[in-house]
Amino acid sequence: MKIMVVGGGGREHAIIRKLAENPEVEKIYALPGNGGIASDAQCVPIAATDIEGVVRFAFESAIDFAVVAPDDPLAMGCVDRLHAIGIPCFGPEARAAEIEASKVFSKNLMKKYGIPTAKYETFSDPEAATAYALSGSFPVVVKADGLALGKGVLICADADAARDAIKTIMLDKHFGESGNRVVIEEFLEGPEVSVLAFTDGKTVKPMVSSMDHKRVGDHDTGLNTGGMGTIAPNPYYTPAVAERCMQEIFLPTIAAMNAEGRTFRGCLYFGLMITKDGPKVIEYNCRFGDPETQVVLPLLRSDLLTIMRACEYGTLDQTEVEFSDGAACCVILASGGYPEKYEKGREIRLGGAENASNVRVFHSGTSLKDGVLRTSGGRVLGVTATAPTLGDAIHEAYAAARKVSFQDMYMRSDIGQRAMRALNEQ
Ligand code: AMP
Ligand code: GLY
Repeated sequence: MKIMVVGGGGREHAIIRKLAENPEVEKIYALPGNGGIASDAQCVPIAATDIEGVVRFAFESAIDFAVVAPDDPLAMGCVDRLHAIGIPCFGPEARAAEIEASKVFSKNLMKKYGIPTAKYETFSDPEAATAYALSGSFPVVVKADGLALGKGVLICADADAARDAIKTIMLDKHFGESGNRVVIEEFLEGPEVSVLAFTDGKTVKPMVSSMDHKRVGDHDTGLNTGGMGTIAPNPYYTPAVAERCMQEIFLPTIAAMNAEGRTFRGCLYFGLMITKDGPKVIEYNCRFGDPETQVVLPLLRSDLLTIMRACEYGTLDQTEVEFSDGAACCVILASGGYPEKYEKGREIRLGGAENASNVRVFHSGTSLKDGVLRTSGGRVLGVTATAPTLGDAIHEAYAAARKVSFQDMYMRSDIGQRAMRALNEQ
C-alpha cells in the first residue's frame, strides 16, 4: 500500500514510524515532512495547507490511504477533497473538524448536549465581552474563537488583565481572524489529562491517557507553548475517572456530533480537567496531539494502519486497540527563545541519543541539507523513552535528551515530576 501522511512535525514522525511497522506498507510519503522524517518516508515539498497540491499529489501518485494529521488542513476540508476523488482517509471532514476549529461551536455543542465544561459566554463585541468578564470572579479565562496554535488562551488574574486580553485578541488581532469572537469562561482548577480516542463515528476506543506540559518554564511557569513534553499514562486518569469520562463525555460527544450531522471519524482529542466536581472538557482537538502522540503511539501494541482503516470503514468495534502496560516520557528540545523569537539553522548533533532500543527521537522542526541536520522551528526534537515504570521512562528520556546538542538548545527539566508526585501520593 502507498500511504500519504499530511504534516511535518513530531506527531507526524511518530505516526509514520508506527505505520511503517505494517508489512503491507510499501511506501510512505510525507507532505512536507522534515529533516528527520526523511529517514522514514519520502518527503514531498508540498505544504500541508496547500490543499490543491495535496489532492493533486494523492491522485497522481495513486495513494491508497491518506492520514491528514494537522488541524489546519482538516479545517480546510482536505479530507472532504480526498474523499471526493475516492481516496480513503484517516481524519474528520471539515464539518466535524469544526469541533476544534471553533471554540464557540464546541462550547455551544457541550451546552446543548449537557457535556460537562466550564461555564461561559461568547461575544463578537469587545465592549460586551469586557463588561461580562468584569462582572464575575477572577481569574477569568479569555479565549480566541479560532485556531491559534494553542496560544489563544489568556488566563486573567484581575480586571486590568481581562481588559488587556480582550484588546489583544479582538482589537489588536494578535491571533488574526481567530479573534473575531471570544469565549469568556470560568476558571477551572484541577489536574489536566489528555485523552486521544479513535472513533469511526459509532464506537470510541480511547488510547492510553497522557499529560502535556504546556508552559515553557519549569514548574509550569512562563508562556503557553504547543507543549514542552509529555508522559503516559497520566496517573490522575484512574479507572473510575476513565469510566465517568466514557459515560459523561466521550459517548455523549460522539452522539452529539452525529445528531448535528457532523459525524466525527478519526482521532478525537479530549483535553480534560479533573475538577472536584468531576471531569470537564477544557478543549477538543480534531486530531492527534503534539507531543502527546510521541508518548501514546510508542505504547500502542496493535497495528496503527489497521485501526486507522477501521475508523474510516466503520469497523472499529471489531478491531483490537491494545496498549502495553509500560510508561513513556517525551522531552521536547526547543530553540532558545521559543515560543517568542528564536534563531533557526543551528546545526544539530544527535550524539547517539537513539542508540537504545527503548528511545526514539522524533523530529519536529528540523531540515536536512547536504547531509547536515539543522533546526528549523521552535520545537526541534522530541526524545521519547519507554520503560516498565514512569520513573525509568523519565530518567531514560532525559539521559538520551542530554546527548543531543545544538546552540541555544532549551528543555524543561521537570517533565513528569508532577505525575511522579501524584503516583507517590496514591
Ligand atoms: P486550550 O487551548 O483551550 O486547551 O487552553 C490552553 C490551556 O489553558 C489549557 O491546557 C489549560 O491549562 C488552560 N485553560 C483553558 N481553559 C481553562 C479554564 N477554563 N480554566 C483553567 N485553565 C484553563
Ligand atoms: N499538545 C496539545 C495539542 O496538540 O493541542
